[in-house]
Amino acid sequence: SKGTYEFYMLKEICEQPGVLRHLEQFYLDQNGEPQIKAKIIDMLAAADRLYIFAAGTSYHAGLVGKVLFEKFAGVPTEVGFASEAGYHFPMMSKHPLFIFLSQSGETADSRVVLQEAIKRNIPSLTLTNVPNSTLAREATASLSLEAGPEIAVASTKAYTAQIALEAILAKALGEKIGNENARAFDLKTAFALAAEGAEQVISSKEKIEQLAQKFLLPSRNAFYIGRGIDYPLALEAALKLKEVSYIQTEGFAAAELKHGTISLIEKGTPVIALINDPLTADLMRGNIQEVIARGASVITIASKKLAVDDDDIVLPEINYYLTPLVSVVVAQLFAYYASKDKGLDVDKPRNLAKSVTVE
Ligand code: M6R
Repeated sequence: SKGTYEFYMLKEICEQPGVLRHLEQFYLDQNGEPQIKAKIIDMLAAADRLYIFAAGTSYHAGLVGKVLFEKFAGVPTEVGFASEAGYHFPMMSKHPLFIFLSQSGETADSRVVLQEAIKRNIPSLTLTNVPNSTLAREATASLSLEAGPEIAVASTKAYTAQIALEAILAKALGEKIGNENARAFDLKTAFALAAEGAEQVISSKEKIEQLAQKFLLPSRNAFYIGRGIDYPLALEAALKLKEVSYIQTEGFAAAELKHGTISLIEKGTPVIALINDPLTADLMRGNIQEVIARGASVITIASKKLAVDDDDIVLPEINYYLTPLVSVVVAQLFAYYASKDKGLDVDKPRNLAKSVTVE
């Protein structure tokens, strides 16, 4: 039940620190070493390339997964929309492994790709929140997201669980095949800090609601911009906001705006800027100035080390590769309040169902 929460979406957003702590207990031992069945790690280690297929929010978690698998396991990883791959099968490496990401485990687009994989004898692994779902049963192996039932149509805690589990798998695989980054990746500490960080964001929800009321509610459109790992995050943040508030929102790789889309910026257009990547933080500041010069109302979300005095939201410092686990909570809360304060049905946005079982 919703308990004291007005909507499931807020309840599920607030459950995320607990989900991270549970995943840490469930999949890591006391020394922070991943506890994943040998059969699954051997299957991953036998692949020369990983292919992640998913839809919507799960696809966005896949984009972060690519960064994690390439950094901590050194295995080239591709991410595709299941709906496209089903009919335009990508060119395969010699020893591919397919990873399906799906909260429900029932998404029709992903099931089509899995059927094709089975026909071609390609091994597969499903990460899902519903362990007895079709995608879990039909894949070679499956792992549970352990996020607990997700009721709101907008996916929140399943996204964080997917990224956390991808990080665990990336470390486990990297260690198996001798990647140095994997050994140095202190997941136990990183998860603890991410859970605390998410908690801190949740405790600042009044401020996020005020920003949403001031900048998002009056607007018909908005942008999220980011670079590095903040780019896939911008895509997810934008999907969340448009899905529940009906404010047309696009997520952009920050520097791409000036290649065309900047013409849409007018006086007062909200642009939410994510600044977690130390390599491109200065460039982000430049991109922010570009949109301010065209009249945008900018909201900045920055990691502590990269923050400047007048940033709107400052996030506690955590491992760069896990920053999506914290920044996404800000984005989810922006979406939640933009929808709720417009008087919309947050949990059941128009035209949508929780799981999309048609192609
Ligand atoms: O159950 P799945 O993870 O396979 O669902 C995929 C998408 O339909 C889903 O993430 C959808 O985009 C959400 N409503 C987004 O909040």
